[in-house]
Amino acid sequence: MALFNKNLQIDFLRQIESAKHKNDLADLNLKIFGRKGAIAKLTKKIKELPLNDRPEIGRFINETKKILEQALQNKKTELDNTDKLENRDFDPTLPAEKLQKGHLHITTYAVREIERIFKEIGFARRRYPEIETDWYAFESLNMPKNHPARDEWETFFIVGDANKKAKVDSQRSNQSRLVLTPHTSSGLAREMEKGILPIRMMNISKCYRRQIDICHIPMFHQFEGFVIDKKINFGHLKWTLEYFAQNFFGIKRKVRLRPSHFQFTEPSFEVDISCGLCSGLGCKYCKAGWSELGGAGMVHPNVLRAGQVDSKKYTGFAFGWGVERVYMMRQGLSVPDLRMLYENDLRFLEQF
Ligand code: PHE
Repeated sequence: MALFNKNLQIDFLRQIESAKHKNDLADLNLKIFGRKGAIAKLTKKIKELPLNDRPEIGRFINETKKILEQALQNKKTELDNTDKLENRDFDPTLPAEKLQKGHLHITTYAVREIERIFKEIGFARRRYPEIETDWYAFESLNMPKNHPARDEWETFFIVGDANKKAKVDSQRSNQSRLVLTPHTSSGLAREMEKGILPIRMMNISKCYRRQIDICHIPMFHQFEGFVIDKKINFGHLKWTLEYFAQNFFGIKRKVRLRPSHFQFTEPSFEVDISCGLCSGLGCKYCKAGWSELGGAGMVHPNVLRAGQVDSKKYTGFAFGWGVERVYMMRQGLSVPDLRMLYENDLRFLEQF
């Protein structure tokens, strides 16, 4: 009976496991299943056993066979696989595998390009605070406290000591509340109060509004062009808009101005650009051949006064548009949900 115990199984399993080569497996196979192998020996011994014990031992032998067969097969597959890996053709002269490189966010590309285009015609890049006083964001822009026009800006008011900030910035923003700047126009008074004229600035910054849905993100970017000089007129504004449209969107694009209203510009306009797909004829991507870019206008005298600029001697224009919006329009991208831009999902961002 000593022969018929589990030790035999375990012993062979160990040997199979430690096999290093397919030849070892062939030897083991012979030792176990060969004509003079362990199984054959056991089977022969059955005859010597009492009749009662035989069925049980028969079952034990069958089970052992199955277990060892399976173990041999598994080990064979394992050795086959390592063989494949080790014998793989290796050519040390091949170039290394390419590392996966990241790239800038599309908004950064857009900001850099807008900055470059305006730099060429002398606009200096500026950045003004994201945490702003109500005075710069609204009052200096001809929107006194409680003026209904402010509603359009869906502003985030924040808790903080505006007086402390005002001491550093300007006494005139004293007593005013703090906001997350809702537009880049809050840089207008800041630029003017430096007292350096003429002005040709491009303020590109983050802006915040209390709006979130597929077309609005509470944090977005605007770029604001601002020019102040003697004898600046509407023609300068129109030319600048056309210059941008043709450099950013393509030489064939046209600009159209529609009358609009902003408290800080007079006259005020909404700027449209001819659709790049149908060249202004009208298609399913645009409204009757034109797509809206954003607001613009000639600077209101009250705004010049707020910036301590002599409104009798100087005039100017301003325009402020959404960075994400113009970039999407140029690429002909219709992102189903603008919020995707800032969800940091690589599967989405890698496409650009
Ligand atoms: N600040 C305006 C907005 O956020 C845009 C604008 C800027 C309009 C400058 C006219 C002049 O909608």
